[in-house]
Amino acid sequence: MYLLMPMMMRLILIVIFLACFTSRNWPKCNHSIYDYMRLLPPKSSVERFLEAVKRSHARRDAIARSMQSAPKSNSVKPSSIPVTTEGEGEYLTQIGLGTPKKTLTLILDTGSDLVWTQCLACQACYQQIDPIFNPAKSSTYKPVRCGLNLCQDLYITACPAAGCQYLYEYGDGSSTIGNFATDTVTLGNATSIPSLGFGCGHNQTGSFTGADGIVGFGQGPLSLISQLSNKGVISKRFSYCLVNMNSQNASPLLLGDPAVTSAPPGVAYTPIQANPFYPTYYYLNLTGISVAGTPVKYPDGTFTIDSTSGNGGLIIDSGTTLTYLATDGYNAVIAAVKAHLTYPLVSGSEYGLDLCFDIGNATSLILPTIVFHFTGKVDVVLQIENLYVLVDTTGPIICLAMAGNDGFSIFGNIQQQDHLIVYDVNPTNFQIGFKSITCG
Ligand SMILES: *[C@@H]1O[C@H](CO)[C@@H](O)[C@H](O)[C@H]1NC(C)=O
Ligand SMILES: *[C@@H]1O[C@H](CO)[C@@H](O)[C@H](O)[C@H]1NC(C)=O
Ligand SMILES: *[C@@H]1O[C@H](CO)[C@@H](O)[C@H](O)[C@H]1NC(C)=O
Ligand SMILES: *[C@@H]1O[C@H](CO)[C@@H](O)[C@H](O)[C@H]1NC(C)=O
Ligand SMILES: *[C@@H]1O[C@H](CO)[C@@H](O)[C@H](O)[C@H]1NC(C)=O
Repeated sequence: MYLLMPMMMRLILIVIFLACFTSRNWPKCNHSIYDYMRLLPPKSSVERFLEAVKRSHARRDAIARSMQSAPKSNSVKPSSIPVTTEGEGEYLTQIGLGTPKKTLTLILDTGSDLVWTQCLACQACYQQIDPIFNPAKSSTYKPVRCGLNLCQDLYITACPAAGCQYLYEYGDGSSTIGNFATDTVTLGNATSIPSLGFGCGHNQTGSFTGADGIVGFGQGPLSLISQLSNKGVISKRFSYCLVNMNSQNASPLLLGDPAVTSAPPGVAYTPIQANPFYPTYYYLNLTGISVAGTPVKYPDGTFTIDSTSGNGGLIIDSGTTLTYLATDGYNAVIAAVKAHLTYPLVSGSEYGLDLCFDIGNATSLILPTIVFHFTGKVDVVLQIENLYVLVDTTGPIICLAMAGNDGFSIFGNIQQQDHLIVYDVNPTNFQIGFKSITCG
């Protein structure tokens, strides 16, 4: 009897969670206010993917450059997101800004802090999805005075009469210049949050096209999540579940406690590693990689943060498409995958990728899966869809969606798809959880 009871209870719990979680309605299971935003479905095609590969490389280079140029302090560094055409390898979310509320479509970016959008009057603006935000028409818009903390948190500021000015430079030479200001932000259908700091960009130069701007979810004080938690609106927690690139469904994004409290059972948590040199990024301790069930061998320390320079380590980033591995680890993974491939290899240079093969007329594919092991026995199992992408329909040719990097590593968004990823950034927990799940 007492053996049976827990079994039954477990069954009931599972049923409740499944009903909540496997249906499209999952995020709505929790009706609290701020918690639910949507990430728009990614748009995918071979051409779009190849563009995304180029941007992914540019972003990796830009993050590297931001690290090289960064002062060794706690200030927020301009990191680097080439913003381009909507939804090609990036996940977009909508927030309301101003009074009356105007809807903006922004890139979700855990690899930067600033929230910014283009603003009228434009000195130079690119074409974007929604009408450009007009601060003059918002009754709650306020420029930030230079002495205020939010302004001092900016990396580069100038202070003309109009108030705090920002300049954010991206790795490919693109930049946004504008006024740092506050306005009311509305998330989902929720209650509005007054006085959120954001960059109102009047002069965008370079290769921006597409999204209205970026919503930074990094650890720094200017990110959306930090500002909301510093105001006491929510706790410093969020989760997302990125749908497969080929899906037309939205990806759920939960803010605040529900990210943790309404997560299904079985989320496995690994600690976030502090890197005082680059406080924006979320670093995880990658302790091993298995290919087709066998651990890959690479030198100790390949994925470790160097405590004197802050170099190395692995960042989890929603804004980078591919996964980049430090050279020694990457070479070992490539060799292991190759050893399991039965298809002829072809050059990937025209696709910007290294390991590509021609599947010819094969009707079912046999490809090795890869597991990333993190501290705390957290095994993130990458399925075929997380690893191999079609780059050419003639052939057809398929490539491994990873690349090498000199130094640090990035766990990119293709590899995050179809995993619930919970960021529990409250100082007492400071961990990130993973659970394999079909996101939408
Ligand atoms: C916009 O910013 C660029 C530098 O990024 C500058 O060269 C240019 O003069 C600015 N344009 C205007 C109209 O202020
Ligand atoms: C917001 O409200 C509209 C209309 O009431 C509804 O259709 C939509 O599903 C709601 N969105 C969310 C994210 O709750
Ligand atoms: C909804 O979230 C609150 C915390 O914000 C939590 O206490 C409650 O259990 C959640 N409800 C469900 C059904 O997950
Ligand atoms: C990271 O993992 C290695 C094992 O690969 C372990 O020795 C080290 O203590 C871990 N570091 C932290 C900060 O958890
Ligand atoms: C697949 O293509 C090869 C030549 O590329 C051919 O020899 C083989 O018969 C084809 N198989 C099928 C099932 O069509």
